[in-house]
Amino acid sequence: MPDTALIERLANELFAGVPGGLSGVPNSVPVSQGSSRAPEAGLFNLPGAAPFDFNFASLAAPQAPANFDFKPDAVLPSNLGADLYDDAVLRDLLKDNATAHPKMTGAALYFLDEADRFNQPARQSKSVKPAGERAPQIITSGHPAFDVLAVRRDFPILKELVNGRPLAWLDNAATTQKPQSVIDRLSYFYAHENSNIHRAAHELAARATDAYEGARDKVANFINAGSSSEVIFVRGTTEAINLVAQSWGRKHIAKDDEIIISHLEHHANIVPWQMLCAETGAKLRVIPVDDDGQVLLGEYERLLNSRTKLVSFTQVSNALGTVTPAKQMVDMAHRYGARVLVDGAQSVSHMRADVQYLDCDFFVFSGHKVFGPTGIGALYGKPEILADMPPWQGGGNMIEDVTFEQTRYHLAPNKFEAGTGNIADAVGLGAALDYVQKLGIDNINRYEHELLVYAMRELKTVPGLKLIGTAPDKTSVLSFVLDGYQTTEVGEALNKEGIAVRTGHHCAQPILRRFGLEATVRPSLAFYNTHEEIDRLVSVVQQLARR
Ligand SMILES: Cc1ncc(COP(=O)(O)O)c(C=O)c1O
Repeated sequence: MPDTALIERLANELFAGVPGGLSGVPNSVPVSQGSSRAPEAGLFNLPGAAPFDFNFASLAAPQAPANFDFKPDAVLPSNLGADLYDDAVLRDLLKDNATAHPKMTGAALYFLDEADRFNQPARQSKSVKPAGERAPQIITSGHPAFDVLAVRRDFPILKELVNGRPLAWLDNAATTQKPQSVIDRLSYFYAHENSNIHRAAHELAARATDAYEGARDKVANFINAGSSSEVIFVRGTTEAINLVAQSWGRKHIAKDDEIIISHLEHHANIVPWQMLCAETGAKLRVIPVDDDGQVLLGEYERLLNSRTKLVSFTQVSNALGTVTPAKQMVDMAHRYGARVLVDGAQSVSHMRADVQYLDCDFFVFSGHKVFGPTGIGALYGKPEILADMPPWQGGGNMIEDVTFEQTRYHLAPNKFEAGTGNIADAVGLGAALDYVQKLGIDNINRYEHELLVYAMRELKTVPGLKLIGTAPDKTSVLSFVLDGYQTTEVGEALNKEGIAVRTGHHCAQPILRRFGLEATVRPSLAFYNTHEEIDRLVSVVQQLARR
């Protein structure tokens, strides 16, 4: 038996030298108990964790049952092992479910531009060569390398076995998995900061308020809002759209006004407007899409007129993956004096969200789709529009003064946050956005694009498989149907192999019906997915197709 204490220590030292240990904040930043704020979470710099508090157990590959026949050729990225580490034991310890795929542009760093961090002075040890001694070899294919294996180690759930197989989480359009830094940030909040906010004049209220408002700053920064006061915390995209419909909509939409949405919309961006139209007598207009699933801009132009008061559309279709020409669509609506809401639920985790560039009037997204907790999301609104909107719910927190005769409200954002909010999850969302920003959304976008192209190409080789949603501008969603199979049958076959995809209508029935379908199989990607997982997906579907 190896000496586990020794191995644990070596593993800690190793991790101090690999990507997480390269974050701008050293791993060993101690948590100051007296501080009203947790230290900023780096990728491996977990709030509340003792220095090098590495859990040996988390390194061990999950034990497969006897009938387990999937044998990943688990290795470190080829350039990461021997070059940097002398100790073969450490290499064994780092065996992971994921493998270095021939198509993968693995590197010892998350990204190429972090290479110079290796030249910073680093901790020395017997078994780990001084990191400053030489930069690791970096393999790229014309763009910054993305070390998916290193990224995957940040997500504990990716070590799960499902039906005896390594979990392949390809249901990211439904919800995303959470990095350890988010999980730890949540427990840090409850262990050190938990309190209601704004109300009490004691230390924990100050910590909780700082953490909550800090998270609002992070959201504002992430979407490039002009100010944090333009960001309202909500439960998610659905609640954000309902807020706009009930507050802005009831004030500004009247009989015979027109609201334009696209054929691509999720039910969350259809039903609230139908309800508003039923209440006010306004009309709902729908931008059609072409056979690839892209909005027809000419038809959109024809729908716009002086009665158009609002255009509300998704930046990325959850059912097809189509990326809509959002900036152009916003500009076109503005030429007719209409307000524009952009649904960022499916875009924020894959591409840059810049509300000032888009010039949209509202932007909405859910935290759980961008590696944060469920039950938290954000509504961005231009300040002059928020100032003009009445509150949509009444209660505590949102008032400045109450008498039985009248109430004075706070300004935005508090005006729209009645009652005790989801404080801890807002803080968790802040940590998730830190994580994404640390990876870099452009790097994520490039890696995912490579994976999407690979997946589309491989799926197309399956006889009888039809991809639904083939717009040239597309991200991360791979909807398909397979001849001779119900979508549920495909989903079940994949689940047996540990591969999680969604089947059904994806809360977007109108767009599926546009393609004559009631359901599709929908694998959807995130940056922690690998080429192997795509291979496994394609192999199961191939086997079904051959039967
Ligand atoms: C494009 C789009 N809009 C809105 C929603 C609703 O998001 P939530 O259920 O988090 O409120 C989703 C969820 O899948 C979505 O994909």
